Amino acid sequence: MALLLKSDSVIEALTPSLIERCAKFKARGITPKMQVFLVGENPASLVYVRNKKRLCEKIGAICEVTQLPESVTASSFEKQIVQSSLDSKIHGMFVQLPLPKHLHEVPIDYLIPPIKDVDGFHAQNIFGVFSGLPNNSYLCPCTPKGTMTLLAHYKISLAGKKVLIVGRSKIVGRPLALLMLTHDATVTMAHSKTPHLHELSKNSDIVVAAIGRGEMLDQTYFRNTQDQVVIDVGMNKRADGKLVGDVKFDAVVGMVHAITPVPGGIGPMTVVSLIDNLLIATELQCLKEGVKI
Ligand code: GUN
Repeated sequence: MALLLKSDSVIEALTPSLIERCAKFKARGITPKMQVFLVGENPASLVYVRNKKRLCEKIGAICEVTQLPESVTASSFEKQIVQSSLDSKIHGMFVQLPLPKHLHEVPIDYLIPPIKDVDGFHAQNIFGVFSGLPNNSYLCPCTPKGTMTLLAHYKISLAGKKVLIVGRSKIVGRPLALLMLTHDATVTMAHSKTPHLHELSKNSDIVVAAIGRGEMLDQTYFRNTQDQVVIDVGMNKRADGKLVGDVKFDAVVGMVHAITPVPGGIGPMTVVSLIDNLLIATELQCLKEGVKI
């Protein structure tokens, strides 16, 4: 049976320092505040936002959720984002995705200033990933950042390792590849048109599944030598209602050294990274204003 790379022990270890960092701001009269925009009633989005708000409040920060109807116009939505971006009491903000189609034209990645962009989607923050800047100097995309934190917690080193990332999305696969490269991994990116995926996967030390296809990576993708590490970023609902990752967990767990469970693996790490980003955002804004913390 593989080592289960669960997020709960990582979060338990990290929470006291998040609380302490937040308290330092509060002692100076600054309460870190996150503004969330949630459009419509997507059930998964409601759960994600609730979890983000919960951790935010647990560490002593403020989380305000603006819930907008599905029918909100692009111009009204845009106006409200700009308003928050100009409010000096708001340190971090994000728009929960997915958005209804008629809002796709709203350039949220640019309307949210990079210093408040806790999702890490702005070009300036992507440049931080690209250049391998130090962690506290920019806002790193949350899922890749959470994956790196989880690996560090379990002392899984990347230096010299062969990593395969399956999935090339803007918010997971691509930034994660760059972060891992910065940590001296040899990274291969795979996607729907990559041939010989089975061999690539079997030849890797670490396999990251971020494809968004439930249980796609089954036992045929692993080599059964109990030495591979599997990171499952997927979160899919199976026909029977069960929440599953992109890896067929039950078939693979006996073949590898370590694997992240779904749920309870990468998902909650994304939330912790968001809260860490809120504290970094607050710090960067204090620095800009000349306030010493
Ligand atoms: N929906 C799914 N993943 C994400 C994410 O990383 N950020 C936001 N804002 N919405 C999401």
